[in-house]
Amino acid sequence: MDHFQYQEKHLFAEECDVAELAAQYGTPLYIYSRATLERHWHAFDSAVAEHPHLICYAVKANSNLAVLNLLARMGSGFDIVSGGELARVIAAGGDPAKVVFSGVGKTPAEMKMALELGIYCFNVESLAELEILNDVAAGLGTIAPVSLRINPDVDAGTHPYISTGLKENKFGIAMDDAEAAYTRAMELPYLEVKGADCHIGSQLTEIRPFLDAMDRMLALIDRLAERGIKISHLDVGGGLGVPYDQETPPQPFEYAAALLERIGERDLKLIFEPGRAIAANAGIFVTEVLFLKENAGKNFAIVDGAMNDLIRPSLYSAWQQIVPVRQHSREPKVYDVVGPVCETGDFLGKERELTIRAGDLLAVRSSGAYGFAMSSNYNTRPRAAEIMVDGAQHYVVRERENLQQLWQGESLLP
Ligand code: LLP
Repeated sequence: MDHFQYQEKHLFAEECDVAELAAQYGTPLYIYSRATLERHWHAFDSAVAEHPHLICYAVKANSNLAVLNLLARMGSGFDIVSGGELARVIAAGGDPAKVVFSGVGKTPAEMKMALELGIYCFNVESLAELEILNDVAAGLGTIAPVSLRINPDVDAGTHPYISTGLKENKFGIAMDDAEAAYTRAMELPYLEVKGADCHIGSQLTEIRPFLDAMDRMLALIDRLAERGIKISHLDVGGGLGVPYDQETPPQPFEYAAALLERIGERDLKLIFEPGRAIAANAGIFVTEVLFLKENAGKNFAIVDGAMNDLIRPSLYSAWQQIVPVRQHSREPKVYDVVGPVCETGDFLGKERELTIRAGDLLAVRSSGAYGFAMSSNYNTRPRAAEIMVDGAQHYVVRERENLQQLWQGESLLP
């Protein structure tokens, strides 16, 4: 459930008329709903309420400071993949003691920063990284808390670009090598082995792959226990899908119940790293129709938002619902909704039935995750403004970029 609903043919974001927000702030525009973000975070937190747990929101999905700050205020932890994301979490008032650091390519400088800030855990992805982390911790005279990211080799059944748990992917340590890697981690004096983690992919709409991964991870944790290696937390990663269209992904409570049943009596804290499930349906992307045109019998709606603003359709052929901000009762037509960027791959949606005229506004739903966070300045297009609504209130949480900002830091030859 989200808080973007029609009231008498006008699309509302909570209690704000989306057309009025677009008139005030301009387009293209991202609009987030505070109530939806909070609701989704609570869905995870309450699903595991009785069991020791930490919800580490995956910052990469939407790293706007206001979003991070709202989650931090609710007590959220954060899953980060760079020093930049860590700096954002701190700037947003997040608690470094609730941060897990994922990613295959952490630099020594990023490790140092995270150690100095005292993060909860490093999710280490290779033996080479273990050695370097040990060295960096030694240099600081401190101990690095570690979890090993194990690749459980399960097929997440999602888009190949966002499937990460197969053994041919670049992520994690192969299950066959896991025990040797833990043995090595135990030997390294500046590491403290705390956990095990996995992340098998994103936008999963079935529970089966999660449970397969869980079974393999628990079997590993039991084998480690027999060797005297105590694992105190299991981080199951993110990946829970959302309904973009007709998908019916498991709800957080169903997912959590199935995990807890498998954990049974084990003394194991659970960590989740949800990104999309919290942010995707808490945001819309609003764009104005510039022109309608027909080429060789095909109708195009040319809008002011483009692949630089929202790249998921172009990059993954992702389908996101496109709805009118004001509903009209005229006869609809079928359009490709395309942006001004000079690439055939620049589209927000194909073959959409819409009743529109030039000047109308469209909303691309489910844009709160991997929307603005993946935007760029391609074609020298300033990035969109971001707005957060809270009931009838609305706040600019990121100003629209201006042109001078786009070449700031560039210089001419003497
Ligand atoms: N943890 C790790 C280690 C991850 O790699 C990811 C996402 C997450 C958590 C969060 O996953 P989520 O709950 O959001 O599925 N740009 C793509 C998605 C890439 C996901 C990358 N990793 C998209 O727009 O679909």
